[in-house]
Parts: sequence; structure tokens; C-alpha cells
Amino acid sequence: MSKIAINNSTAFGGAISQADVDNLRSKALAAAATLENGDGAGNDFLGWLHLPSSITRDELNELQATADKLRRDCEYVVAIGIGGSYLGAKAVIDALSDSFAAYKKSNGPKVLFAGNNIGEDYIHELMGLVDGHPFGIIVISKSGTTTEPAIAFRLLKEQLERQQGRKFASGHIIAITDAARGALRGLATQEGYTTYVIPDNVGGRFSVLTPVGLLPIAVAGFDIAELVAGAVDIEQGGDEPMLCYAQTRNALYQAGKKVEILANFCPRLHNLAEWWKQLYGESEGKDGKGIFPASVDFTTDLHSMGQWIQDGERTIFETVITVESQSAKVVIPSDDDDLDGLNYIAGKRVDQVNKMAELGTRLAHVDGGVPNIVISLPALKERYIGQLIYFFEKACGISGYMLGVNPFNQPGVEAYKKNMFALLGKPGYEEATRAIQARL
Ligand code: PA5
Repeated sequence: MSKIAINNSTAFGGAISQADVDNLRSKALAAAATLENGDGAGNDFLGWLHLPSSITRDELNELQATADKLRRDCEYVVAIGIGGSYLGAKAVIDALSDSFAAYKKSNGPKVLFAGNNIGEDYIHELMGLVDGHPFGIIVISKSGTTTEPAIAFRLLKEQLERQQGRKFASGHIIAITDAARGALRGLATQEGYTTYVIPDNVGGRFSVLTPVGLLPIAVAGFDIAELVAGAVDIEQGGDEPMLCYAQTRNALYQAGKKVEILANFCPRLHNLAEWWKQLYGESEGKDGKGIFPASVDFTTDLHSMGQWIQDGERTIFETVITVESQSAKVVIPSDDDDLDGLNYIAGKRVDQVNKMAELGTRLAHVDGGVPNIVISLPALKERYIGQLIYFFEKACGISGYMLGVNPFNQPGVEAYKKNMFALLGKPGYEEATRAIQARL
């Protein structure tokens, strides 16, 4: 069975040496043991660690049956959620989808996303799109109280009930939330929605392999059993790749490389990087510490951020995701006149050119003082995306413990909410409202 692979050889020579990485070996092993033994900070959120191998065939079949019902009855399915209740599904669906799926006919519903922003035009346009069409809703919130998805759900639930009737609505709204707590749980119970539970011990950003990610991915027509099997490959394949990544990035961080740029050469991976940014940003960015996770889409961004990366402040390193093979084959034709001067690459596949752009970029960046780590995927298939997800999750847990933070909390995200609630006059925030208004 082919697998994803990591190569850190181009991280050496400038900021760090192999010895610097080796010196972090015992720290990385201790961090991995802390995860496994469950005796570190945030140990009540380790449900993701052996989640892939604990998922049963019956659970997958159950999710698939719900997905099939939505696929059969709906033209659109709106997945409502934000942060960890959004990014994983979006990342996987985009990585596996035709880039122009939105504009093409398909034999299943289009999966749309809402509740991941508070853009008034966005929700208006989405409501306009589904107007008059049978649609379903998957509403996802672990806490069941997050404002952004709650607003989107109130609007879309009302539209669906008005449009298709309450019976259709209650049969085609699926709620994924905490087992007992939160407003969404109460609402789902009252309306009789099909529900799935987000386990207590799985945090939002580690939840893509729970129904949070699996249901929307199945609705989009992808093979969730293969995705999970990929995660199991890495869960049970030994820690070496994750240790390598965690040691290398921590060595680079200690050498002053404060920003990690996840680079891809494949447009479908844009949102995989968004998922990765949340995973690493929320897990490591605390207590005044943490690598800043950034991302670029190459070669597109070589014509914008390429300048900064090649020549700007030398505080960055790159992790490049390379996809070994494309599913399609497009060959550059020869032209008799050759007015564009491209005959020197005539007969080559577009991907061969892309690969040379990738190699050329990596060499140029290493020469320019940007160490590279390379993670390769055999192809954009469920199996390898599943492997990549678990690889990043486990490496994140190890890396966070090496950094000395609790990788499983996110106290910082409460600050904006407190101010927003105070500004909106939410009951219970009267004191904060007075205080914030005095500042304005
Ligand atoms: O990783 C996290 O915990 C967060 O990003 C949450 O996923 C996000 O805030 C959404 O929370 P909830 O699922 O409770 O609506």
C-alpha cells in the first residue's frame, strides 16, 4: 500500500543541521509518550488519537445511509458550521472534487457551506440559490451555541420549513452536536431531527473524522471508509513520520524560523491548508509562543508572495505538499509557428511543467534561506487524504507538547466573542456592555 511520505533533507544546511533535529529526538519521543499515556495538559481531549481504528463499519454504514437520503432527495445540502465544524469537510471535499464541480451537472446534491462567516450578502446569495429547490441542512456545532452557525441555521431552517413544509424539513435537517448540552441539542430533540454526537473528548479542530466531517464528505459523494482507512494506515504505522515533522519544525522554530508556510502546487489543496492553519494555529499559538502557520498556492502566489518568500525577512520555512500523480493527462501541443516560443515544452504533460516549477522553486527558496520540508502524496484520493489528516493531527499533538503548551485548548478565541456579545447587548453581558461602550 502506498503512503504519504516526509522528507526533511532540504531543511538542513542553513538555519539548522541534522544534529539539531536529532537533539530533539528524546523530547519528541517524550511528547509522543505523553499523548499515548494521556498524562499531559488537555488530556481530556485525546479522543481523536485512536479514533480512526475505533470507527466501525456499522457507524460508517449508518452515516452513509443518512448521506444517501440527502443525496436522493435534495438538490443542495448546506453544511452549517465554523472553525473545526467546517474546515475539515471543506478541505477534504475540495481536495477530492473537480475544480469546476460547482458549474457542472452531478448525480448528487451540491454541498454548500454557511455559518462560517457573518456576511450578509453571502447568506442572502446562498438563500437565493436554494430558493425553490429542495435542500437539506447539516447543522454542526459542538457547543451548540456558536453565533455564526446559529444565525445561518435560524435563517435556513425558516426558509426550508416555509419552502418544503415542516415534515420535509425535519426529515432533512441533521444536527451534529454535543450528546446533551447546548441550544442545538435541545432544538434537535424538540424538532425530532436525526442527530450525531461529537464526542466530548474530541475538540473541533480534531473532529474531521467524526460525523462532523464524515457526513458532509459522504453527501458530496466521497468514500468515507477509504478516508478512515487512510487515517488508520498512519495511526497504526508507527510514529516516525510525525516525529520527523515535529522535530524538524521545532528545531527550525528554535533557530528563529517563526513562520511556517504550507505550500501546495495543486489548486485543490487550498482549503486543506486552511484546515491545517486552524489545527496548528489554535493548538500552538498560546502563552506567547507558537509558529505562525501561513499558506500559499503555487504557482499562483509565486507571482505575488514569491518575492517576499525569496527575499524578505528570513524568519520563514516552508512545508511543501507535493502530489505525485494527477488523474488527468493534458499534453502541451506543438505549434508550427511557435510564436509564443513554447515548442521547447511541446509534448510534455502540464504536470511535468508543474513539477519543474516545484523543483525550481524549492531549490530557489532553499538557496534564498528558506528551509524546506516536503510531504508527498501519491495522488489526491480518499486514502491519502485520510493519511495526511491523521499525520498532521498526531504531529500537531507531539509538536504542541514539545513546545510546552496545551495543544487542545483555545482560550484566546473567547476574547472577540465577549466583546461582540457586549456590543450586541446579549443578556448576561450588561456589565461588559457598559464597560465597552465607555471605551467607544
Ligand atoms: O477547534 C475549535 O474548537 C473551534 O474552532 C470550534 O470548532 C469552533 O469555534 C466552532 O465551535 P462549535 O463547534 O462549538 O460551534
